[in-house]
Amino acid sequence: MSTVDDKVQDNKLQIIGKLTASLIHEIRNPLSAIKLNLDYLSMIEQELPKEVNESVDVCKDALLRIQYLIDNMFTFTKRNVKGDQKCSLNEITKNAVGMMKANADRRYVNIQLDLDEKLPFGYFDKSKLLQVFLNLITNAIESCNDRGEIKIRTYFEIPDYIIWEIEDNGVGIGEEDKEKIFQDFYTSKEKGTGLGLSVCKMLLKDYQADLNFESELGKGTRFFIKFNSNLMDVNDEIQNINN
Ligand SMILES: Nc1ncnc2c1ncn2[C@@H]1O[C@H](COP(=O)(O)OP(=O)(O)OP(=O)(O)O)[C@@H](O)[C@H]1O
Ligand SMILES: [Mg+2]
Repeated sequence: MSTVDDKVQDNKLQIIGKLTASLIHEIRNPLSAIKLNLDYLSMIEQELPKEVNESVDVCKDALLRIQYLIDNMFTFTKRNVKGDQKCSLNEITKNAVGMMKANADRRYVNIQLDLDEKLPFGYFDKSKLLQVFLNLITNAIESCNDRGEIKIRTYFEIPDYIIWEIEDNGVGIGEEDKEKIFQDFYTSKEKGTGLGLSVCKMLLKDYQADLNFESELGKGTRFFIKFNSNLMDVNDEIQNINN
């Protein structure tokens, strides 16, 4: 049975949720203005001195970080609105990789794609899947030191599943940390919030998709998402095969 204290606590959490949501809303507009201006400076990079371009890159990195945090916080606070539409896991993956490329290049991390072109279309909320893929790619990049190699694959696991997986050759996860990494706010990073994986789990729950991982300390990590193919349009698969 819930006590008066529990109710007060619930109320406080609700108020914090509302405040966070409106704060995020207010931050988004000025953030877009900063992004537009930085994009403009990138467009005229040839006309600018090297030091200015370096500063622009640093600002872009910082902006990406703020954007990432805000998107994750927003996911936690907003009501569960689903905008499912017919879309392709492969296309969303390519989008996500495109968005992370500059970041990966700067850290000398190479991202390889091996996407099964016969994958059928699915019914998903594109922005949610994009956020999941961005979070997992960010983690993979952050785990890599020198000469990072990341492989992203999509494939069928016969008969009922489609797998999206990302493998890195980064630091790996120690046995004692394996059970902690999906906890809200667990992080081993100096500047981490520990929200990335919790948000992924939460977003994937809408599609009954499972997120799991295998990891060996010092060798690397493989995160994989198991999508049930009943969310996919199997007729499209047949069409793809016939074409
Ligand atoms: N690919 C990976 N390789 C090694 N460790 C990982 C990897 N992905 C996640 N982890 C571990 O799981 C922890 C939690 O990850 P999560 O994405 O939830 O938070 P974070 O990356 O620390 O912070 P945030 O995503 O909020 O910036 C990480 O701090 C790290 O210890
Ligand atoms: Mg993360």
